[in-house]
Formats: sequence, C-alpha cells, structure tokens
Amino acid sequence: MDTTALARTYPTPFYAYDAAVLRARIGDLTEAFKAQNVSLHYAVKANDNPAIIAMAAKAGIGACLVSAGEMKRAMAGGMPPALMLMNGVGKSDADIRFALANGIGQLNVESIPELTVIADIAREMGVVAPIGLRINPEVAANTHSNIATGRRTDKFGLLAEDLPEAKRIIAARPELKWIALSCHIGSQVHDVNDLRRGYAVMADIFRAQEGLDRLDLGGGFGVSYRGDAYSRPADFAPVVAELTKDLQARGVRIQLEPGRYIAAEAGTLVTSVIHVKDSGGMRFIVVDAAMNDLIRPALYEAYHPIRLGRSSKAATMPCTIVGPVCESSDCFARDRGLPADIVRGDVLEIGFAGAYGFTMSGQYNARPRLAEVLIDGNEAKLIRRAFTAEDFDAATLAA
Ligand SMILES: Cc1ncc(COP(=O)(O)O)c(C=O)c1O
Repeated sequence: MDTTALARTYPTPFYAYDAAVLRARIGDLTEAFKAQNVSLHYAVKANDNPAIIAMAAKAGIGACLVSAGEMKRAMAGGMPPALMLMNGVGKSDADIRFALANGIGQLNVESIPELTVIADIAREMGVVAPIGLRINPEVAANTHSNIATGRRTDKFGLLAEDLPEAKRIIAARPELKWIALSCHIGSQVHDVNDLRRGYAVMADIFRAQEGLDRLDLGGGFGVSYRGDAYSRPADFAPVVAELTKDLQARGVRIQLEPGRYIAAEAGTLVTSVIHVKDSGGMRFIVVDAAMNDLIRPALYEAYHPIRLGRSSKAATMPCTIVGPVCESSDCFARDRGLPADIVRGDVLEIGFAGAYGFTMSGQYNARPRLAEVLIDGNEAKLIRRAFTAEDFDAATLAA
C-alpha cells in the first residue's frame, strides 16, 4: 500500500484497509474450520464498516453483535439475521425489540433479570425469542486485564451456579426458546491453552444440559502486533475439534465470534507529521492523528507497529510519536526507532489498526471522526467519508 501516494488524494489522517489482507484472514478462518460443524460470526464491534462486513458475509460468515446499531450495519453488509447473534450485559429494550423484529438467530442472555425482560418484550411482540445463556466459565485468559472477560468477578455472563434459576425461569416462559450456551473469555488471546481451558469448561457444562443444539465458544483469537509467534486459527481448530468431537457428532453446532483476527492486520492509520520537536533530550514526532482516532495505546498501552511511508537510508533514533490532543496519554509509542531524517509533511503508517480502531474512535477536542478507504489491488475506494464539523453542528441544539 503506497500510503504516501494515497495521502495526496485523501487528507490525513484516515484509515486505509487492504482488501487482500482481509480476504486472507477470512480465508484462514474458513479454511481452518471447514471440516467441522462450526459457524463463524464476525464480531462487528472490531470494525463495523458495511464494506468490510460484506466481505465476511460473502464468505458465509454471520455476525456477532452488541446493539441494534451494529445489527443495522450487519444487515447493510448483507448478512442474514438468522446468522446473527447478540451479546451484551445491558442490551436496551430497543436493542432487544429491533433484534426480535428483524429475526435475529440468537440472543445471548447475560443475567437472570435479562431473561425476564426479554420474555416480557417477546410476549408483547407475540414472538418467541431464541436465546443462548452466556456462561462465565471462570477462566482467566492471559491477556490485558481490561479485555479479559471470563473471570468470576467480571461483569459478563451467568455463573454456572445461576443455571438452575435460569432454567426455572425459562421453563415458565413459553416466549423463550433456549437453544444455546455461550461464552467469551477475552480478547487478544495468544495462547491456545487459555482457550482450551475455557472450551473444556463449557463443553462439560453443555454435556450436562438437554435439548440444546448450539455451543458458542466466543471470539478472542489474537493477532501478532509485534510480529512474534502467535497461535493461529489452524492451531485453535484442532482444539475445538478435540474438545467438542462428541457434541459435533450428535449434530451440535459450534459457534465462534472472531473480530480482531479478521480486521486488525488489514488496517493502517495513515497520518502526517506536523512537527519534529526536540525537547528535554527527546525527539517528539507530532502527528495529525490522535488518541481520539485510535485509543488503544492510551487505553491499554497497546503496541502498534509504526513506519515511515517512504524509504529512508538514515540511521534510526528513538522517537516518541504523539498526537495533538491535550492529554499526556495521547501517545502512540515511546522511544520507537524511526529514521532520523523524518520531517514535517512525511507520512507515517500506524499498522494493525483495523480492529477496535475506527469503531472505538471519538470526537474529543472536537476532532471529527476519520474517513475510511478500502484498497483493492490498484483501486482505492472511500467507504466512509470523514465526519465534518457541520455533522457535529447539525446534532447540536442552539443554546
Ligand atoms: C462476546 C464477544 N464476542 C466476541 C468478541 C470479539 O473478540 P475478538 O475481537 O478478540 O475476536 C468480543 C470482544 O470483546 C466479545 O465481547
């Protein structure tokens, strides 16, 4: 991807996605699980641009959602509602109503009170809600604490000890059709053995139930932001097969919810250097992208590869790459080796920014959200225009 050339057409900063990488990662997943009774549900929260959702839909992948807004995007991307499932510890009544009205395949319930809320809404609508019970398997994934979701003290899912009460409620409410158990132990899981522990707990709980035909094992497949060795779908697939062979043999469908694995690597945040500032013995490279555009480094101290968009023969020196936002945490990387001849106007590429990049972005410092461009071979296509100050003004009522 020649981002320096692209930056002549699209004003920086912007997100660029490489269609070939998206297809390759989608292909890894479909290939790894093709011999099993597995359905894939792309976690749209990673990147909800309908053009990207459409690429997953084309490969027969469904959606994993958390809101009506995401369901609308998934429908715009051409995914059939029957292949969609919705998680969320606090789905609003409007989310639930929208999902049921549009024929969602599965609502994963995350608490005892939510069961009654869904049953009441379904009764009022005259429909039967297909539900999964999301279980917190009490497994601590070896990932950043903020994205581990399967520990006893995390807010997600029901504990196994809540199952008898959940079952009593379901038995009393004909508006609920219980079809699945689900879980998700965390994101950016890079050790297949973590998922193995979670899957084993879930398979055992599943075996103790009757009448269910889907076991949703969540997402979480990690990507290698630093280029080191990581477990990949081809490593995870045999573990799924081993732990659920008996279930698959009796027709149980295993569902997976990968998000990051599909979208992360394909995305680059393309940004320009505003200033090179030498101060206090440090070299700061001040770029035009900021933490509101890509919050992962500020939020989780996440690592993203950063490179200069042109070739350079200059020696590297430690640089701290920061954005213009008025927060010290607005820093993409500290002491990163970059060529010493970087100047104002150069383009930098912040890599592996396709997942939880645009979708987690905001408007802090009244900075409008960025454009997204899809690169397919020699063609570049704008798939979301940049938001403008006027969009902001239009939503703001006069004082
Ligand atoms: C319930 C659920 N499923 C799937 C995912 C996707 O995880 P990942 O992007 O790590 O695959 C998430 C992410 O937080 C999640 O909360």
